[in-house]
Amino acid sequence: MIDLSLADFLALPDSEKVHHIRDYAILYAQQFSREDLDAYCRLADTCREVHKTEQGRTAMAGILRQRMALNFFVQPSSRTFMSFNTAQAYLGMNRMSVRDANISSIAKGESLIDSLRTFISYVDMVVMRHSEDHAAAVAFWTSMKAHRRLVIDGEERPVPIVSGGSGSRQHPTQALLDIYTLQKSLAEIGGIDGKTIMLVGDLKRGRTVRSLSYLMKNYRDVTVIFAAPERYQMEDDILEFLEQAGVRWRKATSISEGIESADAIYMTRIQDEYDKVLPGTHVPASRDFTFTLEHLAAMKSTACLLHPLPKRDEIEEGVDYVDDPRVMYWRQERNGMWMRVAIIAKLFKVAHLITDFSMEPEG
Ligand code: NCD
Repeated sequence: MIDLSLADFLALPDSEKVHHIRDYAILYAQQFSREDLDAYCRLADTCREVHKTEQGRTAMAGILRQRMALNFFVQPSSRTFMSFNTAQAYLGMNRMSVRDANISSIAKGESLIDSLRTFISYVDMVVMRHSEDHAAAVAFWTSMKAHRRLVIDGEERPVPIVSGGSGSRQHPTQALLDIYTLQKSLAEIGGIDGKTIMLVGDLKRGRTVRSLSYLMKNYRDVTVIFAAPERYQMEDDILEFLEQAGVRWRKATSISEGIESADAIYMTRIQDEYDKVLPGTHVPASRDFTFTLEHLAAMKSTACLLHPLPKRDEIEEGVDYVDDPRVMYWRQERNGMWMRVAIIAKLFKVAHLITDFSMEPEG
């Protein structure tokens, strides 16, 4: 199903890898078109609605009852791991997890690729978080090469691989849930088109902001503000991508510089797992890049505040518990779970079962 060697596949630019990936797996934010994003958001809304009724919950839990999912998370995770688990449970999937490489055969010296091939011979889906940038691509290549095929909607397909975060480069499902949250938050003022999105914090090593930046190509007349200390500024590959896609961007040297023009502010923590810091200590956010109650007061009344979480000191204590509808990050978490239900339903081509149910007359 793939003629390339692993080395040749990994050497391809992501824009070409995407042609091989098609809709078999979710690895890169560049995979998604505007049409896809709108469809994912609509489906996430439908899943949410259907799940509100007892009948809906029962119907959903029957959809993927015979399927087995593996959540292979060998890098720390709370939200992504739990929301995928919950989403899989809502669709009735059986679930297994590997969260510690030290208690799998990797500790005996097995290669990642052999471990993956083993996983693929038991399970029908692998969600994977790994510290290596290429790990999800390796998993995809392995599933393309493995003998086992699933029959999904009458077609033989490789075991789906979903990246739950790969190194410091990509976190595509987070980007989808961020789009879902932005679209919902900005719905009353016409959605994401024409808006200014300010990304704040460690943009250099933050995979969420990189993946979200890629998705901006799908929206008309968007401006991205990159607010970060110089050493954490967004890398040139993303800036060039936006340039080519015709997305306006500028850099800012503090939150204050963009707060009045931003329609959405997306905070991130310093990714100090890539720094040499003493165990138990963390690099503090600098004052200019800490979101305060004064910033909240200066934000547009229609704007929203997002964060992929986990957060530390980059959002001042006090912002969490103000009763302000613009503070979206806790709802963003829940949106993530619905988006992941939608992602799984699409991978297994069962989305129509959920949409059809939502259209059935009650009673
Ligand atoms: C993010 C990640 O893992 O990249 N977390 C998440 O999935 N919500 C963000 C982070 O760890 O800073």
